[in-house]
Amino acid sequence: MIWLAKLESEELPYEAEWVRSDELLKDVESRMIPLAEQEQVQFDVVERSHFEMRVDREKFLQAISNIVVNAIRHARSRVSVYVKGTEIVIEDDGNGIPEDLIPHIFNRFVKGKGGETGLGLAIARTIIEQSQGQIKVEQSSLGGARFVIEFPWKES
Ligand SMILES: Nc1ncnc2c1ncn2[C@@H]1O[C@H](COP(=O)(O)OP(=O)(O)OP(=O)(O)O)[C@@H](O)[C@H]1O
Ligand SMILES: [Mg+2]
Repeated sequence: MIWLAKLESEELPYEAEWVRSDELLKDVESRMIPLAEQEQVQFDVVERSHFEMRVDREKFLQAISNIVVNAIRHARSRVSVYVKGTEIVIEDDGNGIPEDLIPHIFNRFVKGKGGETGLGLAIARTIIEQSQGQIKVEQSSLGGARFVIEFPWKES
């Protein structure tokens, strides 16, 4: 909570720089592999294309990590992260988000069955919006949840 309040104040200034999406996703991959191995979940980061993102690197890594940690926890056997145009997609083959929770899932303290504090996605949305992005969630064709982060920048 304190960290989320700081994020929204001047106390933790947003320091934007241009970063390539593939470099950023490599960092996500190396941070998340230990958890995926521990949970016995196959974790694929697919980079068929990339784009330049103007983000606060550390904060954005935090945002995407919160989404990926959830995906790994809820996956049955796999999590996939990929880039499509200027979107970053994170999907898993778990049970997905219950329909009635979808409109509220990014609000603070909203959690599902077996959830923890319900802050991870609220923090992720705050950071993504500070990065001029938008996040939405839908049903994945893998069966679980699909989080799509959409940016306004051009594809490279
Ligand atoms: N990939 C997913 N598949 C299924 N449910 C999910 C997924 N990601 C999030 N959820 C649901 O959304 C809720 C909110 O997620 P959020 O990350 O905000 O909180 P949390 O994981 O419960 O706690 P924490 O603050 O530790 O992250 C979770 O409790 C879970 O019910
Ligand atoms: Mg979480």
